[in-house]
Amino acid sequence: MVNESKKIWMDGKFVDWADANVHILTHTLHYGTGAFEGIRCYKTKSGSAVFRLQEHVDRLFDSCRILNVNPPFSPAKIKKAIVDTIKINKLKECYIRPLIYIGYGAMGLYPKDNPIRVAIAVWPWGAYLGEDGIKNGIRVKVSSFSRLHVNVTMTKSKTCGDYVNSTLAKSEAIACGYDEALLLDTNGLVSEGTGQNIFIVRDRVLKTPPLPSVLEGITRKSIIEMAQKKKIRISEGNFTRDEIYIADEAFFTGTAAEVTPIKEVDGRTIGNGKPGPITGKLQDLFFKIVKGEDKAYKSWLTYI
Ligand SMILES: Cc1ncc(COP(=O)(O)O)c(C=O)c1O
Repeated sequence: MVNESKKIWMDGKFVDWADANVHILTHTLHYGTGAFEGIRCYKTKSGSAVFRLQEHVDRLFDSCRILNVNPPFSPAKIKKAIVDTIKINKLKECYIRPLIYIGYGAMGLYPKDNPIRVAIAVWPWGAYLGEDGIKNGIRVKVSSFSRLHVNVTMTKSKTCGDYVNSTLAKSEAIACGYDEALLLDTNGLVSEGTGQNIFIVRDRVLKTPPLPSVLEGITRKSIIEMAQKKKIRISEGNFTRDEIYIADEAFFTGTAAEVTPIKEVDGRTIGNGKPGPITGKLQDLFFKIVKGEDKAYKSWLTYI
């Protein structure tokens, strides 16, 4: 159950949480053509700060461009609305969910004149894969579902409908007793988690799959920049599931998952089964950055 807050921003106005409803014939509810973001706001010593707000708003608008959906508000207006929604709910730390969707109007697959609607909800949300997962790592299953091919839907947008693929994979993994799923692309190469990018470490080289089959994760990009600054060798390249089995370390990244170590994949222990040194170093730095404790990354935070 969502940890409810008080107000949700809908099309330029605040409405009470309980009244944030839509018509049953809302187009996106039927066909999935809509885009959303997941963003986090963290408590820091100098007040609350949103992590990489500009990048998330940019990706939201990129998703809309890919879907050919024209948002009725500017990126600047959405940025301000996000900050205002956090403020009005008086939350120090929260998860932020902006959603741009096609509203009620025509049905059928060509909703030319339907209104484009926007909502922003915020609520407190702790560690997505659990506190124990963040500390000790999670168990992952390679999914029987393939990640969507770039010409089935597109991988650079966070399209609502794409998450059917993710929810199928996630529920399969949980039904099999795992914490999370890892999807392979349609060529059988490692792609990403249901809402996370993956990194492995092998012989002290950090490796992550290249962009065509994965979402351009903002945490992924941040980790790459952080690793480069720390002089950790990094390679963006394809690898197979068995390379994860023999990796020294593996971890997921994402706004919800933050930096979550992976301790087991398909019943094989990764490394010695404990978060490895490079994972630990990057995870520590990530949490310092989001909490405003590393001045070198100040520009990644928007204080509210
Ligand atoms: C499919 C998928 N991959 C990766 C990510 C990680 O992206 P980010 O770090 O921008 O949250 C997400 C979450 O948005 C996602 O849904």
